[in-house]
Amino acid sequence: MPWREQLIQQHRSRVTANTWRERQATQDAVGRELKVNGKTYLNFCSNDYLGLANHPALAAAATDTIQKRGTGAAASHLICGHQDIHQQLENELAAFVGAEKAIAFSTGYMANLAVPQTFLERGDLVLQDRLNHASLIDAGRFCEANLKRYRHLDFAHAQTILLKSNANKKLLTTDGVFSMDGDQAPLHELTEICRQTETLLLIDDAHGFGVLGETGAGSLEQHGIGVGGGVLMLGTLGKAAGSFGAFIAGDAVYIDSLIQRARSYIYTTALPPSIAAATRAAIQIFQTEPERREKLNANIHYFRQAVGDLPLKLLDSKTAIQPILLGDSETALQATSLLQQHGLWITAIRPPTVPEGTARIRITISCEHHQSDLDQLIAALSSDAMRTLTETDQ
Ligand SMILES: Cc1ncc(COP(=O)(O)O)c(C=O)c1O
Repeated sequence: MPWREQLIQQHRSRVTANTWRERQATQDAVGRELKVNGKTYLNFCSNDYLGLANHPALAAAATDTIQKRGTGAAASHLICGHQDIHQQLENELAAFVGAEKAIAFSTGYMANLAVPQTFLERGDLVLQDRLNHASLIDAGRFCEANLKRYRHLDFAHAQTILLKSNANKKLLTTDGVFSMDGDQAPLHELTEICRQTETLLLIDDAHGFGVLGETGAGSLEQHGIGVGGGVLMLGTLGKAAGSFGAFIAGDAVYIDSLIQRARSYIYTTALPPSIAAATRAAIQIFQTEPERREKLNANIHYFRQAVGDLPLKLLDSKTAIQPILLGDSETALQATSLLQQHGLWITAIRPPTVPEGTARIRITISCEHHQSDLDQLIAALSSDAMRTLTETDQ
């Protein structure tokens, strides 16, 4: 069959299966609210957990740097794209998470790709939690090592696989906070197992960095585990930091290897310096405004207390990611449009992003939400129409 026909057929089956993905262009800045087709909604699906994406200090740092340095870094880091601003950012990131050294990447996806490709060879093992973020899974697929997965959060299963493996080098990777479920990796157990089996551990803390731990340094800080030795931490900068990019932190020997060998670092243009400047401003705010984290936690607590008794399949999450399981994609889409009618913007998450039969709406909470916003959300989730949707699925 000609390509065009094949593609049209694939599109048709996606539409029939309710898995066709549609982009909605938002208007204005995206914050506590967002605007689509001229209508304003409460935004319950961004990753701007601390309300920094539109913070004046970040915008000022970025615009000031654009005035002085222009818009682009003009080259990759190893040519002439690495500016003092990037270096300061890396130094500050390392100091903030308590690591010897850090390296900034253009995206979290690229940072994840870098680790197995840099440290593993053919015959080595990359072991992953089954529900890891797609970028970690792709990193495992694209490298030369063998990819294996353990059952979600099941550290005993991970241990069995590691003990049986006779690979020369082993890497275990896990989300710190699982992006589609909001639950957290058992970091104490995983670090211990990795230590016993001489396995390198990479924690992708895209959703923990900035929000978890006493100072916001993330999941590892929350668990009292240091970054270093056999533990690498990855943080993304486009979520709680309200900026763009990502970093990996750890002992200098690992970070230096990434600088030497990571293809997704070497063969790409460095982040615009204005973005690095905005991220530096975000790290300042992490340290000087702990009340943002406190408000976020209060909002999460308020939401969970209120919906706990509703007949909803709310997942067991203590983080800002609060998914409600709906089962099939059609029901998830219906829930999304129902919530839109209540003035709420919450996207449906469907296969293949989540396993078949586990389509859901994923509510994300921010410190910017007012109690009245949460009440509006809670009222919509308590509505008869929502109840009917959840019952249909059961
Ligand atoms: C757990 C996790 N890792 C990595 C990424 C990728 O980060 P980035 O958006 O910076 O590419 C995301 C989301 O985007 C994520 O949720």
